[in-house]
Amino acid sequence: MIGKLNHVALAVPDLTVAANRWRDVLGGQVSAPVALPKHGVTEVFVDTGNSKIALLDPLREGSPIAAYLERNPDGGMHHMCFEVEDILAARDQLLAEGARVLGDGEPKIGAHDKPVLFLHPKDFDGTLIELEQL
Ligand code: CO
Repeated sequence: MIGKLNHVALAVPDLTVAANRWRDVLGGQVSAPVALPKHGVTEVFVDTGNSKIALLDPLREGSPIAAYLERNPDGGMHHMCFEVEDILAARDQLLAEGARVLGDGEPKIGAHDKPVLFLHPKDFDGTLIELEQL
């Protein structure tokens, strides 16, 4: 069901420091920061060729990334995102397998203007998984 790994999202305490490190130390192709006010984050993408690393910085207090950084002040992996062909079919299959979908179970328009769903981390080895329909 899951397709290509679309991105791995890291919450970072300082977006500029993190973006510079990914560019200068790791040699990554780093995008300009993009503010996504509806989602409460500013995002920088690192293109790794076969996938992307999304560096996320909270735009405001109360964003999910701010809460994550309160618990993990050094930052860390927030979620990983897999592409799916049909997000409703994927959801129904997951629910039938006993997995939990966060929120009301209906896909929302995600940070990249595509329908997304998040799966409960307790069902996937402590990892928050995002599904995105391209
Ligand atoms: Co994501």
